[in-house]
Amino acid sequence: MAEQIMTHSQGAHSQEKEAAGRAAAKLVSDGEIVGLGTGSTAYFAVIALGERVQAGLKIIGIPTSVQTGDLARTVGIPLTTLDENPEIDITIDGADEVDPNLNLIKGGGGALLREKVVASASKKMVVVADSGKVVPGLGKFPLPVEVIPFARTLIEKKIVSLGASPRLRMRPDGSLFITDNGNQILDCSFGRIDNPPALAVLLSNIPGIVEHGLFIGLAKLAIVGRGDGVEELRR
Ligand code: 5RP
Repeated sequence: MAEQIMTHSQGAHSQEKEAAGRAAAKLVSDGEIVGLGTGSTAYFAVIALGERVQAGLKIIGIPTSVQTGDLARTVGIPLTTLDENPEIDITIDGADEVDPNLNLIKGGGGALLREKVVASASKKMVVVADSGKVVPGLGKFPLPVEVIPFARTLIEKKIVSLGASPRLRMRPDGSLFITDNGNQILDCSFGRIDNPPALAVLLSNIPGIVEHGLFIGLAKLAIVGRGDGVEELRR
């Protein structure tokens, strides 16, 4: 735990991530089912929620990854599953890019599939991000696409025909990155994505793509760290 706090507190924009995560955790009310996002910004929201639980807040969390589930248990947040609680009151999650319509690119941490399922089951999705994530248009960050291993090469070809360069995600040690769902990720450089909703439909229609990291119309509020404060973006 101490080691994990060290890791997250040393990254670039760490102060902004913490400010955003902590501000979002204040939006959670007693009795709520809470979707718990993944990544170094969502991390701070989970830590802050853990502190509130220790102080008496009654919530139940649904984690978007094995990693976040482990963290939530460590800080004392009781957990449930979507089977038991298919309606989530509020989800707090990070993003790799946030555009002016609050469309997002997500999946830098590889948890996009569960993150999108949880976001889509939530009455409210709150994005937490540092100021570097806010962009005029999506696409500089390579779009993560989760694929079943059986179809990977075929899907790579289809993504090339859409004008992107897909790259199979590897771990820093050189081994293949495998998601919590046993799939692989193609990080696809499209350059500027002029029409994110249209691209989202094209990708969703390719058999073997389990999910892609375009989150269209899911977030209504983004809390963005700016210096040591936060800015709220609404749609
Ligand atoms: C994980 C995600 C993360 O929310 C996204 O990558 C942002 O991460 P961070 O807050 O560490 O910058 O989508 O799949």
